[in-house]
Amino acid sequence: MTVFEQFEQNESAVRSYCRSFPVVFQQARGAELITREGKHYIDFLAGAGTLNYGHNHPVLKQALIDYITADGITHGLDMYTEAKERFLETFNRVILAPRGMGDYRMQFTGPTGTNAVEAAMKLARKVTGRNNIISFTNGFHGCSIGALAATGNGHHRGGAGIGLSDVSRMPYANYFGDKANTIAMMDKLLTDPSSGIDKPAAVIVETVQGEGGLNVASAEWVKKLEKLCRKHDMLLIIDDIQAGCGRTGTFFSFEEMGIKPDIVTLSKSLSGFGLPFAMVLLRSELDQWKPGEHNGTFRGNNHAFVTAAAALEHFWQDDEFAASVRAKGKLIAYRMQKIVRRHGPDSLHLKGRGMMLGIGCPNGEVAEAVCRHAFEKGLVIETSGPHSEVVKCLCPLIISEEQIARAMDILDGAFAAVMGEDQAANQAS
Ligand SMILES: Cc1ncc(COP(=O)(O)O)c(C=O)c1O
Repeated sequence: MTVFEQFEQNESAVRSYCRSFPVVFQQARGAELITREGKHYIDFLAGAGTLNYGHNHPVLKQALIDYITADGITHGLDMYTEAKERFLETFNRVILAPRGMGDYRMQFTGPTGTNAVEAAMKLARKVTGRNNIISFTNGFHGCSIGALAATGNGHHRGGAGIGLSDVSRMPYANYFGDKANTIAMMDKLLTDPSSGIDKPAAVIVETVQGEGGLNVASAEWVKKLEKLCRKHDMLLIIDDIQAGCGRTGTFFSFEEMGIKPDIVTLSKSLSGFGLPFAMVLLRSELDQWKPGEHNGTFRGNNHAFVTAAAALEHFWQDDEFAASVRAKGKLIAYRMQKIVRRHGPDSLHLKGRGMMLGIGCPNGEVAEAVCRHAFEKGLVIETSGPHSEVVKCLCPLIISEEQIARAMDILDGAFAAVMGEDQAANQAS
């Protein structure tokens, strides 16, 4: 029996991340993963953005242990529980009210991001009575059919097996470079009754496209998009599943843009502990659901309510944590910029915002080779982008500066090895 035989024989071929990181992990603490042989890795993947507060944060872990020890409710359908009451109160007090968003309602959906996106799109269609939804090139919104229709990724769309309909794709900010006015283009298409674009119920957008390759929309573009939504009577859905919960240096990725989305989707780091949890925030006048109309057995995970409330209390009562994220983001960007200058000033480039950063490479082969080299040296890091050409840093926000320095040294060495090989191959050919 080989080391991985159990997985290879019994687990579906659909498994993916484990193919890039062929070890068996046993423990994790903070920004580190530990294999069963005791090898430590710095985690720059962090559950694809689910572990903003790191693995097994002691404060969140203790809150959960105390709750379980006291026989707190684990599963309660959507019944009133103390854990849910505390989360609702805490989210409203710590996050919504200080941001002038006290009028939003919270809808708990099935526990993954795609569940929240399904609910958001369904609600937008229900409220407006329209089918069509605008989503953007390279956008990623999940793999269940409704959300997949809004997702651009061809590999995932190819797995659908049925038609993916009722979505019109538009170019994301800077898709055609910074000279093209994609908002004006959309305005023209939406104004022309014969453009072939049916009047949309909503627009769904990420302010930073995570899976799509760390493409950043400027505040100006997002504000214009909001104006376009108001002009054409479409709802604005911000999918903050990956960029939210502090990743860009503020709790919501859009909160310094001066916009007021109609609907916001959150999941990934919302529970703070890596527990499945998803939520839709909706302006209260949009709350036109009939009881149970959008149902689901696992709506609202009580353990996640506990850890999420503890995370909000611990990290978000003041600006100290957010300020540390912004400072670390600058540090990582500085180190990445140095890597770009040293190994490929003409072929590499820095991408992203806050602590959602990466290095764009000439192609997917280079980016994947960099990640492979980095893994050999103790860094778990993945690619994103349409050609998997972006080496993407999604490390826990609580990572120490010393760990950042170590990870960046590894990444620097990996780029040196791969770009060196690349140059040697070019010279030989
Ligand atoms: C922006 C965004 N929306 C939705 C999803 C889907 O979330 P999940 O994989 O939990 O269904 C993701 C996942 O990466 C995402 O990044």
